Amino acid sequence: MGGRLSGKRIMITGAAQGIGLAIAKACHAEGAALLLLDRDAALLAVEADRLRQNGARLVHAAVDITDADGITRTVADAAEKIGPINALVNNAGINVFTEPLAMEDADWERCFDVNLKGAWNCCRAVLPELIEMGGGAILNIASTHAFTIIPHTFPYPLAKHALLGMTKALGLEYAAKGIRVNALAPGYVATQKVHDYWNSFPDPEAAKAATLALHPGKRIASPEEIALAAVFMISDECPFMNATCLTIDGGLSVQQHPS
Ligand SMILES: NC(=O)c1ccc[n+]([C@@H]2O[C@H](COP(=O)([O-])OP(=O)(O)OC[C@H]3O[C@@H](n4cnc5c(N)ncnc54)[C@H](O)[C@@H]3O)[C@@H](O)[C@H]2O)c1
Repeated sequence: MGGRLSGKRIMITGAAQGIGLAIAKACHAEGAALLLLDRDAALLAVEADRLRQNGARLVHAAVDITDADGITRTVADAAEKIGPINALVNNAGINVFTEPLAMEDADWERCFDVNLKGAWNCCRAVLPELIEMGGGAILNIASTHAFTIIPHTFPYPLAKHALLGMTKALGLEYAAKGIRVNALAPGYVATQKVHDYWNSFPDPEAAKAATLALHPGKRIASPEEIALAAVFMISDECPFMNATCLTIDGGLSVQQHPS
């Protein structure tokens, strides 16, 4: 086990699978204690037990990040068990993809409640302790949708643009308190969410092949590749990195067109 995150008590949302679970495993491997949250109670319990069997010091809680009071209670409870949280990874998020005029109000609300307000609920729950302790780190898992647009994915990219805005706003607001707030922008990552997206097409294999062909390296990221960057950004290895965003998309968002 490495020790790059020893002394860190890291809260990770959406930790039952995908990018959140990969970040949880990588943080444990680097010596952090964990507070793992997910709304999928059964899956979270399985993965939390697996991590405990691997020696992880962790608390897990089945909470929906849209439940602000539940988040506050969970953070307070975890402080009793593993000590106050000193780093937060806002990872839980959902795809809400529509054609704008076909969108229902409920789609808009669900999208912003989870992808933006949920992240704020978690920031608000941990910030008082971070200020009290004289520092800490918040990492928001944004997306390349935070600065580029794919048609028919409305309003998901709007919420990710706003999450990047919140990253900058909170990063500036609390910089003098020793708190760093940054974002990580993955492109396509091989998680269930992306398989669900491919499966929404009449020919999922063709949809997958089209996605891979878009990428300069003709592949997409693994969750573990995103977790490597997350560990760095939470760690003390980048103490002056604040209010910024690191893109990890294999070059997808800077190319003029696929070759
Ligand atoms: N997979 C990608 O290609 C990709 C690319 C860019 C950004 N992202 C972002 O990365 C994050 C993780 O994506 P993923 O692909 O690992 O997703 P995923 O669907 O595989 O896992 C997300 C987890 O979050 C949980 N969750 C969802 N809503 C929740 C809520 N309201 N409260 C608590 N838990 C909740 C789910 O139960 C699930 O376990 C998201 O914010 C997503 O927008 C993903």
